[in-house]
Amino acid sequence: MLLEVENLSVSYDTATIINDVSIKVSEKEFVGLVGPNGAGKTTLLRAITGLVKWEKDNKQGQRQGRIKFEGTVKFSGEELSRMPAHEIVKRGLIHCPERRRLFSEMTVYDNLLAGAYLADKKKFNRLLQEIYHLFPVLKTRAKQIAGTLSGGEQQMLAIGRSLMLEPKLLCIDEPSIGLAPITKRNLFERIAGIAASGIAVLLVEQDVVTTFSMSARNYILSHGRLVSEGSSQELLKDEGIRKSYLGL
Ligand SMILES: Nc1ncnc2c1ncn2[C@@H]1O[C@H](COP(=O)(O)OP(=O)(O)OP(=O)(O)O)[C@@H](O)[C@H]1O
Ligand SMILES: [Mg+2]
Repeated sequence: MLLEVENLSVSYDTATIINDVSIKVSEKEFVGLVGPNGAGKTTLLRAITGLVKWEKDNKQGQRQGRIKFEGTVKFSGEELSRMPAHEIVKRGLIHCPERRRLFSEMTVYDNLLAGAYLADKKKFNRLLQEIYHLFPVLKTRAKQIAGTLSGGEQQMLAIGRSLMLEPKLLCIDEPSIGLAPITKRNLFERIAGIAASGIAVLLVEQDVVTTFSMSARNYILSHGRLVSEGSSQELLKDEGIRKSYLGL
């Protein structure tokens, strides 16, 4: 098993945001994670990838308030839950965050270069060619300032930057948000291509139908709890699930 999350709970002050969640992702598997706004999807990804700090690690900065974090997160069998985020990145568990978080004053190329801080020059060039092959528009616009890219291009850059870290598992948070249908379709095709290249994907998305058309298995999160899990077919067949959680 590549990722094994067991009985994970995350609380900020007195509010429990993630409540006893267990999820798994196998090598090369495509897994969907869906649920309504505020369900805790982003918090779950942040907890898995080490961006939610343990309470005791958070005494000074306190940017995120008092956080309580329980449960275990294993990646390739190794316990991650007390590991700093940059160590988690080295192991190939990569988070492509919500709202893209690019260096918007820097060029496309420099964003990719900044993303490649684990690679030497030779590896960077190889990865750059792979990323340009997957997203030709990034090559065309290599010298453009990232903040002036269209929404779809920015999302491609964010994913390209994540690929610079050679993920074994790429967790992508709501990549299609705000994109026009045709841009969205194009982006999802690229994400399917990434998955087909052997990278496991954990995709958080509002677009349930498209996500389920690509994913092998899915989890539905609501109010911080898993309410259901299963293959896309199983979940789509369930009238109650469709109505209550999938908006279908
Ligand atoms: N740092 C924080 N401090 C306190 N509460 C937080 C913090 N981060 C998130 N929350 C709360 O946790 C809940 C879950 O938020 P989260 O962003 O994980 O949801 P989500 O499922 O990703 O929602 P969306 O679909 O809107 O992106 C929300 O009620 C949010 O206000
Ligand atoms: Mg979110």
